[in-house]
Amino acid sequence: MEKREMLYEGKAKRVYKTDDEKLFVIEFKDDATAFDGKKKGTIHDKGILNNKISEGLYTMLEAQGIPTHFVKRLSDRDVLVKAVKIMPLEVLVRNIAAGSLTKRLGIPEGKQLPFTILEFCLKDDSLGDPQINEDHIRAMELATDEQVAEIKKYALKINELLSAFFKARGITLVDFKLEFGLYGDQVILADEISPDTCRLWDAATGEKLDKDRFRRDLGNVEEAYQEIFNRLDK
Ligand code: C5P
Repeated sequence: MEKREMLYEGKAKRVYKTDDEKLFVIEFKDDATAFDGKKKGTIHDKGILNNKISEGLYTMLEAQGIPTHFVKRLSDRDVLVKAVKIMPLEVLVRNIAAGSLTKRLGIPEGKQLPFTILEFCLKDDSLGDPQINEDHIRAMELATDEQVAEIKKYALKINELLSAFFKARGITLVDFKLEFGLYGDQVILADEISPDTCRLWDAATGEKLDKDRFRRDLGNVEEAYQEIFNRLDK
């Protein structure tokens, strides 16, 4: 599989065309940003760990019937994926209050939510990825009603599968972000699932094992990502 011209460079990844128009290569970088790009840094070998963590999680999800873009990991930093058209939506899934939910609504960090909360954000850096609702999605024609229904169904199923997977490894899945893409007319899971896109707390100690260590200058950032990777095999 030959990597051709770069199509897109994001904060943490680069996407390349390949010699097959149905396939892209995603390269994971060590760069980390937070607070709409205001905080910048690098996390040593983050790209390698996130590529391998995402591989493990996507392989599990595919085996459980979730359609994803994942084809195979090519190297430490490169993964071969289906060439999807990314939908301009971020889907946030929350089990426990943290992050922007605590800031916006004043719900204390760590409070178990009575049910899983789904939120949508518009993927637009220039607007700071604002939160939107299903009427906005409909009005802006970002997705059809059928696609939104499918995305919600997948997001809740993915939450069940990931929560159980992490629980078995002594990790609490607090919240996470998903992105979906269109492959032909099929909605499939795209992007990555990693400590960059999830809040993961050690179930016994509550220790944060995710990007909040970078966002909040808690130290031992690499070690936290490595710990998540080490526990995947259990
Ligand atoms: O910041 P907030 O609390 O809204 O984030 C919820 C979850 O979504 C967190 O796990 C965070 O890492 C993830 N997220 C993300 N990319 C974004 C926004 C949030 O991965 N642009």
